[in-house]
Amino acid sequence: MKICVIGTGYVGLVGAAIFADWGNTVVGVDKDQIKIDKIKIGEIPIYEPGLSEIVLKNINEGRLSFTTSLSEGIREAEVVFICVGTPQSDSGAADLSSVWEVAKEIGKNLNSYKVVVVKSTVPVGTNERVKRIIQDNLTSNYDFDVASNPEFLREGSSVEDMRDPDRNVIGSDSQKALEILRSIYVHLNKPIVECDLRSAEMIKYASNAFLAAKISFINEMAQVCERAGADVSVVAKGMGLDKRIGSYFLNAGIGYGGSCFPKDVAALYKTSSDQDYNFNMVRGIMEVNKLQKEYFLEKVTKFFGKNLTGKTFAVLGLAFKNNTDDIRDSVAIEIVKILRGLGATLNVYDPQAMYNSKKVLGEVSIKYCLDKYETLEQADALFVLTEWKEFASLDLEKVKLTLREPVIFDGRNLLDWRKVEEHGFTYFAVGKRTNGIEKIERKKLYPTAILGNDNNH
Ligand code: UGA
Repeated sequence: MKICVIGTGYVGLVGAAIFADWGNTVVGVDKDQIKIDKIKIGEIPIYEPGLSEIVLKNINEGRLSFTTSLSEGIREAEVVFICVGTPQSDSGAADLSSVWEVAKEIGKNLNSYKVVVVKSTVPVGTNERVKRIIQDNLTSNYDFDVASNPEFLREGSSVEDMRDPDRNVIGSDSQKALEILRSIYVHLNKPIVECDLRSAEMIKYASNAFLAAKISFINEMAQVCERAGADVSVVAKGMGLDKRIGSYFLNAGIGYGGSCFPKDVAALYKTSSDQDYNFNMVRGIMEVNKLQKEYFLEKVTKFFGKNLTGKTFAVLGLAFKNNTDDIRDSVAIEIVKILRGLGATLNVYDPQAMYNSKKVLGEVSIKYCLDKYETLEQADALFVLTEWKEFASLDLEKVKLTLREPVIFDGRNLLDWRKVEEHGFTYFAVGKRTNGIEKIERKKLYPTAILGNDNNH
């Protein structure tokens, strides 16, 4: 199959590379010349495990090429995937200007029958409008069909997710388009959901909102567990073994972030409001997510006070999740900014997101460290904010010896709390009644009894 992929962000670049790896001839299009020049020589602009090898292999084997010219990119294509960004606009809705622009250009440059597939995450009705825009801009009499093929790739494991999906969803009102799309995915032997355009568009939002709901549910359970003396990780394990519930996306933490959940949940809420429906649960998902970060920070200010001037904190993790260098809507970054705003100095480290973080955090009161242990030097507490595996295996003895005070705020429940407490740390996690919580509570009753007369504590 001859395929054109427009947009070389996470979805487009992974899509183009894997379509090519499946034996298709693929042209990737992006208007960013510098980006395209870099990709052509195998310099991938994002950190995504396994991706650069596949891109290079397929370029070298002649199945994958890149261009900045949309007309050149779609010339030979039978299927054109639109994979441009749909960021959140001020109203909460998805900003679809890039999708409209691309649809216009496709219309102007259509030179044979093509299936135009929207892979970007777009609200209900978008595909129909794409069809109208292409139609309105046609300069030829060629026929075309529009289809929706939402993606379900997670950053950090998108190569694996695309190669081994739980399902593919293809929506169209054209049987011919469905047949062509089916032929791209059928070799995977995975379920293919064929449906109408609007249902395909909705499946994507419903899936992301449901996953976000699982996270917000367990985050709210964490608040109850912490107060009631239960351990949310154990509760999640016990729940997750029930096949009807499933164990995924039940890790309590500092709230979900990233370029998808926050924007897609807000967009679904906007869609429901536009349809005169008040989607109470979706509103709740967003509210809980915002509060989760605040509850976490409350522990810090209850322990150290609200004025953090003179305090230095070690921060492990800046990316919005592990295995990525992406910091878009990263809760870790927001927490760093808030702590800095309260007067603290931060020694930060992330295995992949240092470059991106520097761009948004700058240099004021931030020290960028070369490894996880360097952050601990002269630090009054350690914060774990992203669920990178390498943070779970910290040498606790070394951490204790290097920190000024043995205090840990674990926003991802990454450490084994019994071990941490046995090593003599004051430990705060999420949804566990650890010794840190008990210290705060004792402090309420006997303000000077726990840590001597240091009023700052
Ligand atoms: C998400 C979906 O998982 C993908 O299926 C979807 O294709 C993608 O959005 C998209 O719409 O493009 P992604 O944003 O890459 O993928 O990351 P997730 O792994 O879903 O994590 C999102 C956030 O939730 C992260 O901040 C993560 O740390 C947090 N999270 C995840 C939790 O706090 N707890 C969990 O149990 C799981």
